[in-house]
Amino acid sequence: MFLYCRQLVALVLELLLFGEPPGLVSGSSLCRETSSLIVRPHSVSITEFGAVGDGVTMNTKAFENAIFYLNSFADKGGAQLFVPEGRWLTGSFMLISHLTLRLDKDAQILGSTKSDHWPVIDPLPSYGRGRELPGGRHRSLIFGRNLTDVIITGDNGTIDGQGSVWWNWFRTETLNYTRPHLVELIDSTDVIISNLTFLNSPFWNIHPVYCSKVIIQNLTIIAPLDSPNTDGIDPDSSDDVCIEDCYITTGDDLIAIKSGWDEYGISYAHPSTNIIIHRLVGQTTSSSGIAIGSEMSGGVSQVHIEDIHFFNSNRGISIKTSRGRGGYVRNILITGVILSNLKVAIKFNGNYGEHPDESYDPNALPIIEKISIQNVTGENIKVAGLLEGIEGDTFKQICLSDINLDVSSKSPWTCSNIEGFSDKVSPDICEPLKSKINPESKCYRLSNHLRSISQGTWMEFL
Ligand SMILES: *[C@@H]1O[C@H](CO)[C@@H](O)[C@H](O)[C@H]1NC(C)=O
Ligand SMILES: *[C@@H]1O[C@H](CO)[C@@H](O)[C@H](O)[C@H]1NC(C)=O
Ligand SMILES: *[C@@H]1O[C@H](CO)[C@@H](O)[C@H](O)[C@H]1NC(C)=O
Ligand SMILES: *[C@@H]1O[C@H](CO)[C@@H](O)[C@H](O)[C@H]1NC(C)=O
Ligand SMILES: *[C@@H]1O[C@H](CO)[C@@H](O)[C@H](O)[C@H]1NC(C)=O
Ligand SMILES: *[C@@H]1O[C@H](CO)[C@@H](O)[C@H](O)[C@H]1NC(C)=O
Repeated sequence: MFLYCRQLVALVLELLLFGEPPGLVSGSSLCRETSSLIVRPHSVSITEFGAVGDGVTMNTKAFENAIFYLNSFADKGGAQLFVPEGRWLTGSFMLISHLTLRLDKDAQILGSTKSDHWPVIDPLPSYGRGRELPGGRHRSLIFGRNLTDVIITGDNGTIDGQGSVWWNWFRTETLNYTRPHLVELIDSTDVIISNLTFLNSPFWNIHPVYCSKVIIQNLTIIAPLDSPNTDGIDPDSSDDVCIEDCYITTGDDLIAIKSGWDEYGISYAHPSTNIIIHRLVGQTTSSSGIAIGSEMSGGVSQVHIEDIHFFNSNRGISIKTSRGRGGYVRNILITGVILSNLKVAIKFNGNYGEHPDESYDPNALPIIEKISIQNVTGENIKVAGLLEGIEGDTFKQICLSDINLDVSSKSPWTCSNIEGFSDKVSPDICEPLKSKINPESKCYRLSNHLRSISQGTWMEFL
């Protein structure tokens, strides 16, 4: 079943490189079709393991015992752990392979408000330390490492991190370790996260890192607009990732594609590649709808983003990097963007700063190239673009087309250390991007056949 998405990605790549597809049949979203097929032969309810859904009783042991028991079905088609209606308080627990964690529509998994219910684990090798403090980091509420075939789903059931205690510890500087995510999967393949609501994450919501073949669909992710660092979904050093049909409003980037931090990310060298994001709606008053970086030291490439809508937000699309990051961001296509009431539509920031420690190499310059942004409309936008590369490290082949923004600032575009092309951009684009897009400009783009994907339907291949 996962083959479809993988084949799609492989084919998309092939098309990008070689042009015409071998044979196409239109159909509905591959991501969606792949996910409906799995039925686990064995299912248990968390109540069979002594769990109490009163919102007060701790259920960490019940989750652990249920999952330990279900491990014996791993080689028999896997198993399902069902969480029925109720308020199920728990600390961090670990998933296993060939498992479906399924929530009832009225089920709420609640994160414990005691920090010692979230054990401390090692930093990721590509970060060298916790993201906000040196040393280890609290383990996510739902955690998995080295897994395959994992599904976290529900009929719009809720996973609520009850993160306000963590935001307060952050604000009062009383954290001892980096805050935990709601879901983190490390080194895992064939993952589906769907049909759920995530609320109030202590830190980032969903963090697949060193993962492959990840499908994230139909999620509602909500945290207060002023909650610190509550990123929605952060694919990190991961490949073959599809994110679709999500509604996200949080206190930081809605989706941030990453791949490790400065010298640690450079030496771990694990890129994020083959990432498809479509039909995303949301709001962030502090950060960006879609961000790439700022941690991108392992490289980010082959990202196709389509049909996104951000409102009442700070920034729409941003690429964040810095001297010392190394790595690259290339072959990015973003198309079909609707923005309403934003401060900045598009921002490239080559001087983001934030280094893990003093050992970063200031001569490690990121390569940012072949970024295409097409079909963007915006109303009530303050600034169209702040496009700032790095001195001595120009961002190249930046191609903007069919952009129509209703902008209030007298200087709609500010551009420095960037080069590229444009076509049909209003208000008038800045000088460095004035050359008209032509066949020689080699802008990153999809073939004509793939444009039909871009117009609403995805395809299934014979
Ligand atoms: C998510 O919900 C849709 C619509 O109800 C359903 O078709 C799909 O199978 C669900 N996903 C999973 C993984 O159960
Ligand atoms: C990862 O899982 C595979 C098979 O499931 C196993 O052979 C390997 O030892 C595991 N590695 C680690 C680091 O746990
Ligand atoms: C999203 O999930 C809800 C319930 O969780 C379901 O009713 C709806 O059909 C799903 N939509 C899609 C596009 O899968
Ligand atoms: C799921 O629940 C959230 C929060 O209650 C709601 O905002 C959202 O519309 C629901 N999603 C679906 C697909 O029903
Ligand atoms: C940090 O450590 C101190 C001393 O052990 C402890 O009292 C405090 O509760 C810890 N803070 C958090 C947020 O875990
Ligand atoms: C431009 O984007 C909008 C919004 O996603 C979409 O409805 C429209 O079809 C796109 N136009 C073209 C020519 O792709």
